[in-house]
Amino acid sequence: MATAAELAPRLSEASVKKLWDVYSAFDWPESLDPEAEWYMQPDLISIHGTDVWNGLDEKQRKKLSFYEIVNLFSFVLYGERPLVEGLMNRTYRKATLGPITDYLHHFIDEENKHMIMFGEFCNRYAGKIYPEKKLVLPREYAKGEEDVSFFCKVMIVEELGDFYNVEMMSNRDINPLVAKINKVHHVDEARHLAFGREYLAELFHQYRDAWSEKEMEAFQSWLANYLNSCWGDFYNPAVYKDAGLEDGYGIRKMALADPTCRAFRERVSKKVVDYFLDVGLLDEAPAL
Ligand SMILES: [Fe+2]
Ligand SMILES: [Fe+2]
Repeated sequence: MATAAELAPRLSEASVKKLWDVYSAFDWPESLDPEAEWYMQPDLISIHGTDVWNGLDEKQRKKLSFYEIVNLFSFVLYGERPLVEGLMNRTYRKATLGPITDYLHHFIDEENKHMIMFGEFCNRYAGKIYPEKKLVLPREYAKGEEDVSFFCKVMIVEELGDFYNVEMMSNRDINPLVAKINKVHHVDEARHLAFGREYLAELFHQYRDAWSEKEMEAFQSWLANYLNSCWGDFYNPAVYKDAGLEDGYGIRKMALADPTCRAFRERVSKKVVDYFLDVGLLDEAPAL
């Protein structure tokens, strides 16, 4: 298994080879009709399989799929914003000088382009980006924990986002622009994830022994809560309201408790949770 420092030059080379221009990569139709087609396949929609879903007709479901894709793109965009800031802060440190800083420049460049692409879609077709609801509470960190936590957050937004990318990128039954955005995103994310998996494991193993059991427990409970708070953003009352459904907050509450939705959250989270378990960042799968 290559270390992150060994992986970085290869990933940088691949980034150069696959370099793309965000301004010429897409044809943006003037407008999109939310009720006219699918923007996300039904089985990815947050309330799929629930009684509320079963009570909707096809037009309503398509309209919901439009606002759900805007919500997903908003979620990823708001995850990428602090990611870029955090990656930038980690360039040119003693520990990252050389190939890792070189690769971070590509990582940052690509995330910046993703934000432009997601922002363009959301603003152009929905007239907005859904604001993020997560609260950032101040914490005290054990040695190295701030870095470890940062890369855990990166992994979560990238792994959850990439699940949707892979599901949608080759689907011909959804809007082709949406499929293409997912494809373009996935190609870059595959490199980010390869780097992140290795780099986070190395960071964790570097600091883990210096953490007390209490510090480790506090970290693990933060990590489980953070994953859950991300899922909270997927059940957005404003999305349900924009799709014309009544009682957005009630729908969110219903979906968070519904066993079908919980099973879906577990399925989407499986890759990142398995990784956390494998590396030892978690000892047990969190209740979602
Ligand atoms: Fe991204
Ligand atoms: Fe990424």
